[in-house]
Order: sequence, then structure tokens, then C-alpha cells
Amino acid sequence: MTGRLSRDLDLKPGMRVLDLGSGMGATSVFLAREFGVRVTAADLWVSPDTAADVFASAGVADRIHAIKAEAHALPFARESFDVIVSIDAFEYFGTADSYLPYLVRFLKPGGQLGIATPAMTREVREMGAIPEHIKACVGWEAIAWHTAEWWRFQWDITELVTVTSARVQRDGWRDWLLWARAGREHRPGDADGIGEVLTMLEADRGEYLTFALVTARKR
Ligand SMILES: C[S@@+](CC[C@H](N)C(=O)[O-])C[C@H]1O[C@@H](n2cnc3c(N)ncnc32)[C@H](O)[C@@H]1O
Repeated sequence: MTGRLSRDLDLKPGMRVLDLGSGMGATSVFLAREFGVRVTAADLWVSPDTAADVFASAGVADRIHAIKAEAHALPFARESFDVIVSIDAFEYFGTADSYLPYLVRFLKPGGQLGIATPAMTREVREMGAIPEHIKACVGWEAIAWHTAEWWRFQWDITELVTVTSARVQRDGWRDWLLWARAGREHRPGDADGIGEVLTMLEADRGEYLTFALVTARKR
């Protein structure tokens, strides 16, 4: 997913990148290795010590700094970053009207923002209800799974950024299914509810579920 998103971004060695909602750090490692950028990996649920161990074993500890941070109270100076990326995390904190205006203050002028986030092919508001197989798995949380066009409008209308790309990931549903199947193999016991996610994806067959890849540049 990060690989596909990075095609829509202009990443150069030495750039300062914030990986927001970095989790176990796979995106941070990929960006540091592939593009030679310097990454701040910020996450709420995964401890910075755990993430730092991942970065050390991946041999990129010198290029990635892990911190604990809540997405609405980020501990950075204005214009700290060339790029902010967020993979499979923006849906938890980034859908409020006020969030993009808050976040862009941390980007330098001309800086880039890129997200990959679970998406639907149609807005829940337009359908009038969350499809049953999705509601059975995630309940109301699916109202945050907006279409790529929703994100384009939501960001463009602020006039704080210019959206450079807003698309759904090709085969997004299939990739999500493969990821969930791999997760079940590696985490027996279904601690993370992977079984329910698999049931949802198998019922969906790509009708509604995919990922949105959205990038923008600060004006
Ligand atoms: C599904 S995980 C994705 C992690 C990683 N980006 C990846 O692709 O593997 C979502 C992450 O979002 C983070 N997150 C959720 N709410 C957050 C918040 N309010 N502030 C910061 N991080 C948050 C969680 O800590 C979690 O690690």
C-alpha cells in the first residue's frame, strides 16, 4: 500500500517525513530504506520502545525516530515536515472537518500529505445505511470509510492544500483479503478479530470495500 501511495508522492533523500499512526513501523522502514528519508514514526497504541526495536533490527535506527503521540496533540513545531504520510490510520482520527487544517500547520509550504485509508466505493450517507456484512464486523466505524472523491472534496474545499491524486487502490479489496488471510496464518487464536474481517471481505467480494489513496500539496 505504501509502495502504491509513494508513487503519487515526490520523495527525495534527506526529506523529513512524519509517519502518523505508524504502528509497528513497516511504512517508516520502507520509506527510510527506499527513499533515504528521515522519518518520525508517531503512534498512540504501539510503544516507541517496541517500534525502536523494529527499526534497529531493520538496520534503519539512525534514520527513524519513534515517539508516542496523539494525532490531535502533536508535539512538533510548525512547518517541521516535508511530507506527512498515514497508512491505515487516518480513519481513526482524520475525518473531522477541522483535522486537515490542524495537521497542515506541521507541513512546510509546498509540503506533501499522503494517506491510504479503508474506503467504500459509495458513501454510506448516499446509501442510507451501512451494508449489513460491514456493519456486522465494524459497526458504526464504517462511516469513516469514505470514498476517494469524498476525501478530494474535503481537502480541496479548505484551499489549504491542492489535492494531487485521489484514487482507489486497484484490487484494494483483494489485497485486503490477502493481508487478512496472512494475518490469520501468523496470529493463531484470532486475537485481533481477523476471522470477522475475513467474513466481511469474503461477503463483500469488492462490491464496496477498497482503500483510498489520497495525496495533496500544501499551498
Ligand atoms: C491499523 S494500525 C496501522 C499501523 C501502520 N500504519 C500500518 O500500516 O501497519 C492503526 C494505527 O493508528 C494508530 N492510531 C489510532 N488512533 C490514533 C491517534 N488518535 N493518534 C495517533 N495514532 C493513532 C494506532 O496506534 C495504530 O497503530
